[in-house]
Amino acid sequence: MLTAEENALLTRVGPGTLMGDLMRQYWIPVVQSTELAAGGRPKRVRILGEDLVAYRDPAGRAALVSELCAHRRASLYFARNEASGLRCVYHGWQYAPDGRCIDQPNERPESNFQDKVTLPAYPCADRGGVVWAYMGPASAPPELPDLEWARVPDAQRFVSKFWQGCNWLQALEGGVDPAHISFLHGILDARDAAARRALDSAAAGFGFAAQLERAPHIEVADTPTGLLLGARREAPAGRYYWRITQYLLPFHTMPPPEVGEDPLLHAHVWIPMDDDQLVNWCVSWHPTRAITPDEIAEFHAGSSIHVTTYAAATSEAYGDIRPTATRANDYLADWEAQRTRKFFGVPGVGAQDKAVTESQGAYDRSLERLGRADVGIIRVRKRLLEAALALRERRIAPPGLDAASYRVRPGSVLLAKDAPWVEGARDRLIATTS
Ligand code: FES
Ligand SMILES: [Fe+2]
Repeated sequence: MLTAEENALLTRVGPGTLMGDLMRQYWIPVVQSTELAAGGRPKRVRILGEDLVAYRDPAGRAALVSELCAHRRASLYFARNEASGLRCVYHGWQYAPDGRCIDQPNERPESNFQDKVTLPAYPCADRGGVVWAYMGPASAPPELPDLEWARVPDAQRFVSKFWQGCNWLQALEGGVDPAHISFLHGILDARDAAARRALDSAAAGFGFAAQLERAPHIEVADTPTGLLLGARREAPAGRYYWRITQYLLPFHTMPPPEVGEDPLLHAHVWIPMDDDQLVNWCVSWHPTRAITPDEIAEFHAGSSIHVTTYAAATSEAYGDIRPTATRANDYLADWEAQRTRKFFGVPGVGAQDKAVTESQGAYDRSLERLGRADVGIIRVRKRLLEAALALRERRIAPPGLDAASYRVRPGSVLLAKDAPWVEGARDRLIATTS
């Protein structure tokens, strides 16, 4: 439970807000690299409450500028993408990718007014099939985070994203809530083998252990850049099965894979569009092999973290990643399946998460009742508030501005009952691709 004031501090992300200032310290995913063609049409995006357009100049460099022209606020979504920068179609003003106004063809040639005009613009970089932007105040942005999924060859990674109609924090909190998978993504009867095989979450590696022991013992350990969340369940031969989630400030989570042969790894990046909507970035990767066609088919079928079934695209910000499953159509729930087989009748792991987190509405955390199973959520909020307040009040740089601190993996491991879990799992929580 939080006070109403803490709730507001954690959830509001616009310019000048506590959490908005913290997030602007980090590189932020904007669009997938393939969405921007060199010299092609700009795309509207909305990030941290700011309306922007992303584009790629004819030389292939990605750029991100404020959507509204500095002259009389016409949309640069309609702009001409020319060699030196976007040119507004209303009166022809042109802006370099760094936001400088470099031409005002409706002013007399002797005018130097253009030297006094700039448009908000943010540095961009392509990595891992994603265009990232730095929206912060530093003149030299930090290094891009060395996330393993962004470092492996393209064939070893699958990236998708979908729009969610709720505040970013409640969506992220689902990613640090190891207990919910036994219910929201689970089946009614753990002994029902056919239902277990058909489980939406099987392909996501959420596994069957979670069906058999629904109230795992949960521990949390601080790391320099975030948290490890360990969910411990009984395993054969006097061991424990530990499923370990990574949380990395401010908006990265990595759910644990299934223990075993050759599991895919998964990650989310939870990027606020504003206080009421977010883009849920979903990534699956493998450190050493290509993603197979069968795995990609599973991603598109919704039997994993990915949601790729979208409603008809619009040109509004992220208007091409709105899932067909919405509140208004009950997220396409199969109520008969919910009555007889599944804990929740909505098909697809990502759609299940979307349905419940959107159902929380404008989530008032002063009214919630947290239990022991919510320890991860409590600690994430604490880390975020501490980092944001230290930045604002003492100008202390937040954790994670060095690239190397993101070289981690989630993990699942069988350990002897007396083995310390963080020590015992340490080797498999380190990313080896760099
Ligand atoms: S509004 Fe853009 S040039 Fe006039
Ligand atoms: Fe979930």
